[in-house]
Amino acid sequence: MDGNGRWAEARGLPRTEGHRAGVEAVRRVVRAAPAYGVGTLTLYAFSQDNWQRPPAEVSALMHLLSLGLRREVPELKANGVRLRAIGRRDRLPGALRAALARAEWETRHGTALDLRLALDYSSRDALTRAAALAVPPGGGIPSREALSDALGRVLHPDGIEARPVDLFVRTGGEQRLSDFLLWELAYAELLFLDTPWPGVTEETVRQSVAAFHSRQRRFGGLAPTPAALAA
Ligand code: FPP
Repeated sequence: MDGNGRWAEARGLPRTEGHRAGVEAVRRVVRAAPAYGVGTLTLYAFSQDNWQRPPAEVSALMHLLSLGLRREVPELKANGVRLRAIGRRDRLPGALRAALARAEWETRHGTALDLRLALDYSSRDALTRAAALAVPPGGGIPSREALSDALGRVLHPDGIEARPVDLFVRTGGEQRLSDFLLWELAYAELLFLDTPWPGVTEETVRQSVAAFHSRQRRFGGLAPTPAALAA
């Protein structure tokens, strides 16, 4: 969800206004996603590197996240959205941890959309933690299977399964992955949009999903022949 700060600065507004507008874009995308066939949506809300931002911006973001989570629970629940967080929790402010726990509990039966919020997230950190968990209790080298199994669970140590990502969308004009879901993105289709995150609408979701369907995915194999397609 990149481009909040620049969106605000271009309007002569404080950066935090960009994050506020970003929350509105989150609402639009979450409402629209299921209708376009999106079953799982992972939003990169705060990276481990984002702690380097000025304390005032970090605390405004944390506040917006707690407020947003508390405010949205009834609608998420009504729309069958299950919300869970991935990333570290131990460094988040208590109010945000509490809002998250409540939202996760309240929405636990949702099946229309699996919404994952990446908070204090770093994919390299998640991979390192998963690899450490694969080490046998007495020490030594984990088996190939144990390692692959542990890495397959990198999203979250508490049981949220890693899913291969179909489509990665980054807004805001930059073209990089920024330590996001590196394992899960192995065969993802990548889409980089110039639109800043607060400018994202339902139409952006429609166009992004259409762009995804226009790609030919081969997963390292060959394109199917016309005969195979007809069979
Ligand atoms: C990146 O833009 C955006 C963020 C660091 C924050 C994203 C978080 C939200 C939109 C809040 C989500 C809220 C809920 C309730 C899910 P940037 O600040 O890096 O923009 P810039 O590159 O233009 O400076």
